[in-house]
Amino acid sequence: MLKNMTIRKRIMVILVMVYVISLGLAVGGGYYVLREDTARESEEKTQIFAAAMSATTRYLLTQIRPKVENYLPETYFPEATVGIVMLTEAAKMIQEDYPEYIFRIASPNPLNPENRANPFEARTIEAFDQGDIEGWKGFVEKNGKDYFAIASPMPASEGCIWCHDTPETAHPEMVEKYGNQSGYGYVAGDVVGGRFIYVPTEVALQQAEKKLTFFAGGFSLFFLLMLLAVDRIIVYSVVKPIENIVSVATDISKGKMDRELVIHTNDEIKTLAEAFNRMKISLAKAMDILSR
Ligand code: HEC
Repeated sequence: MLKNMTIRKRIMVILVMVYVISLGLAVGGGYYVLREDTARESEEKTQIFAAAMSATTRYLLTQIRPKVENYLPETYFPEATVGIVMLTEAAKMIQEDYPEYIFRIASPNPLNPENRANPFEARTIEAFDQGDIEGWKGFVEKNGKDYFAIASPMPASEGCIWCHDTPETAHPEMVEKYGNQSGYGYVAGDVVGGRFIYVPTEVALQQAEKKLTFFAGGFSLFFLLMLLAVDRIIVYSVVKPIENIVSVATDISKGKMDRELVIHTNDEIKTLAEAFNRMKISLAKAMDILSR
């Protein structure tokens, strides 16, 4: 294909191909790097969130619960004894200031229907239970928005059973509040739920896309200017001199031996013109000899 083109067109086609390939590589690579960057930043945020949440539960379990159980052994007081109640309540308070951050303790078999796992959470919990994965992190879409999420499994232990075994063994006040349909039947060792933290990445990803668009625009403008410059160089240093040589050579072939090639540049075209002029002199001499 390239063979049948003029030199000018051929160089332009090659340069445009270089442009398309390099733009594709640069934008593709740039997008990958920026997305990784977003993931890293979001992961840091989720980890700080997770650490704060874990500290809250640890405080409850080590400082508050033993005392509550000591002072109020008969009282049902989940706000001070159930880590998950405290976590979900604390998360709600955080959400008042950062509504886009989502913290969830989800389960496919929940006491509180608000905690019912959505399809993504249910799949992840199932994979935890099967032992396929020990943790999950990545980008997910939730209610049409992009989030970075981390998830960790919540296995049941013996300590969970007195509330999550059967409605008959659980505290009546708890059963009254949550009903007797869901949230029971836990077996120690099973993964019964998962902790999910979602941080929004929409803004970060949008910024990344904006940066890439600016880059692609700048890169294209630069290439366009380069293309115009290269085109001018080809026209002035290759196309025009060759046209000149063609016109002089045509004239000479028609017998106008007084024509001479004049090239002002000092390059391959000049060498060609000099060779051509020498050939013309030899031709004139040969014709002179023949005509005698
Ligand atoms: C004192 C009773 C009690 C104990 C012990 C207990 N839980 Fe719960 N659990 C609850 C209550 C009450 C809720 C509902 C919280 C809410 O309203 O969000 C809950 C919620 C959950 C949830 C969220 C889904 C749902 O059911 O709403 C999971 C998962 C869970 N518990 C797992 C565990 C695990 C694992 C343990 C043991 C490490 C445990 N629980 C120990 C009372 C308890």
